[in-house]
Amino acid sequence: MTLKKEDYPIRVQYDWEMGEFFPKEKMVQRKVSDLAMMFHDQAAVKAAVTDSDPLVYEIFYYGFKTSKSDMALGTTRIQPGKVGDEYYMTKGHFHEAEDQPEIYFCVKGEGYLLMETRDGEFEAHEWTAGTISHIPPMWAHRVVNTGKGPLVFVASYHLSAGHDYGQIEAGGFLKRVVERDGKAVLVLNEARK
Ligand SMILES: [Fe+2]
Repeated sequence: MTLKKEDYPIRVQYDWEMGEFFPKEKMVQRKVSDLAMMFHDQAAVKAAVTDSDPLVYEIFYYGFKTSKSDMALGTTRIQPGKVGDEYYMTKGHFHEAEDQPEIYFCVKGEGYLLMETRDGEFEAHEWTAGTISHIPPMWAHRVVNTGKGPLVFVASYHLSAGHDYGQIEAGGFLKRVVERDGKAVLVLNEARK
């Protein structure tokens, strides 16, 4: 069998301090304005966007595509911060493909991984550096940074998994992570009642 150029092994180098790998193919930045509908305090969203529209998170991608596979890595760096009393978080998504899982590896910081099914099952994993979570197929996933510094995690998945943001954009997750008396707590999302 003649191998194509893309069928040879390759490597990328991860920078633990930066939370990035090199080379990277693509970078996406999301600011408060990109996540406006995700936060429950719309007055706080408006104030943040008008003020400086701060960066919430960045994702760096690398696709290890071969002629027979489509593994990919993403690394996400979520800044510390809140909109109102709600901690900075990723947008969150289901996979379009119903047979596609994902592995998330928290390399820095602390927070929560929120997961839920379309039938209303909900799970939250508390994260510290070193926590590795397996997200089974059919579970939506979102990461929340409750720490004082950046939260960084690496994701391993197949490109064919795809992203379905529809339900999350419409109503968010079943629970939100907010600050109460200086502590991060999970509360029911009133928009989903
Ligand atoms: Fe995913």
